[in-house]
Amino acid sequence: MKQDMILVLDLGSEENPRLAREIRALGVYSEIHPHDITLEELKALPNVKGIILNGGPNRVVDGVEIDVSKDIYNYDVPVLLADHKGDKPWPADPAERKEALSNFVFGLCGAQANWNMDNFIADQVELIREQVGDKKVLLALSGGVDSSVVAALLIKAIGKQLTCVHVNHGLLRKGEPEQVVEVFRHQMDANLIYVDAVDRFLDKLAGVADPEQKRKIIGAEFIRVFEEEARKLDGIEFLGQGTIYPDIIESGTKTVKAVKSHHNVGGLPEDLDFQLVEPLKMLFKDEVRACGKALGLPDGMVYRQPFPGPGLGVRCLGAITRDRLEAVRESDAILREEFAKNGLEGKVWQYFTVVPDFKSVGVKDGKRTFDWPVILRAVNTVDAMTATVEDVPFALLQKITARITAEVKGVNRVLYDLTPKPCGTIEWE
Ligand code: XMP
Repeated sequence: MKQDMILVLDLGSEENPRLAREIRALGVYSEIHPHDITLEELKALPNVKGIILNGGPNRVVDGVEIDVSKDIYNYDVPVLLADHKGDKPWPADPAERKEALSNFVFGLCGAQANWNMDNFIADQVELIREQVGDKKVLLALSGGVDSSVVAALLIKAIGKQLTCVHVNHGLLRKGEPEQVVEVFRHQMDANLIYVDAVDRFLDKLAGVADPEQKRKIIGAEFIRVFEEEARKLDGIEFLGQGTIYPDIIESGTKTVKAVKSHHNVGGLPEDLDFQLVEPLKMLFKDEVRACGKALGLPDGMVYRQPFPGPGLGVRCLGAITRDRLEAVRESDAILREEFAKNGLEGKVWQYFTVVPDFKSVGVKDGKRTFDWPVILRAVNTVDAMTATVEDVPFALLQKITARITAEVKGVNRVLYDLTPKPCGTIEWE
């Protein structure tokens, strides 16, 4: 293993992820582990140069103050107590925190600043090969950032022992399924099974207007299609997963209750009993992107904006029809193209179009039209819990309007959604 590590033991502080990030920002790898880690588990972790015990408001669990075992205090590396309520208050000022951390990490622990993507990738390649041996791995490759980066890492580690399955459910953005095939099959020479399940999904969704019902159908059908493909393959023992650190943190720790439940293996049947390979599970999102970049994935794949699992399905409001779905896909492509041309790509957090299921009257070439409106949405946020609306230049909104009404079939009006979250959500469904 190439990287030194500073271990953060969770004594109930919600600030642990921030602390781990601050240590990584110094160039030293850091992981958070539960307070009840055993000496054996600790010894099994590679290159631990120091331990930080970080307590806080959740230190008292069920009326009892939790602590790490004596063995940990006596372990042969420097230990820092960063308890918020204890006798060593942790500085709030970022510069002071940085200095305190640097002193501990480099001065006391003598850690090397060797946390970088090349070393991370080299370590993971080694670990993946160790875990998988000569066995086969299956991966659902949506083309999103996390699954694409896992795919690229697994291809580097085990090449053709990996089989990727890309399910095209018809709800992806324009050009996405093609890009997955181009990058992974043609450029990276991966085993890629492309499943055209468009008709299957759209048939299942026909007439279904309730947003939660639509989500359920899309999720369940996805698992069914993936499972069918998995059953066709022989001798697969492992399932690759694009789990990243925030997924694990949000699922809750021993001291902090789950923010939201996280189901990565969404209900695969028990007889498809895979072991998981999750090489990104210790990375924050920006690190996942850096990893993808270092592995040679195109910028368009690595820096793309968030895209919901049910895809355009929740942007074609009400019961999905093929013509309105195409109107969503085409208008979205125009919006993305214009944002890219005008320097807004990578600046605005999320932007997309929505097509509602009602029509309005318009006029074109002297004739009455009765067509759909397209709603534009462009928002900025840090955590998606609240969001503000991007102040898009009026001239650009006019240009996008002109293009959409001229180029997208069945559309005669364009609106810009000015609603922040709250009280609107980011998506319309
Ligand atoms: P809302 O609409 O709740 O969206 O303000 C917040 C963020 O979550 C995304 N989103 C989803 N992502 N499956 C997902 O994977 C979903 O069903 C889903 N619904 C919303 C949304 O795009 C935004 O980034």
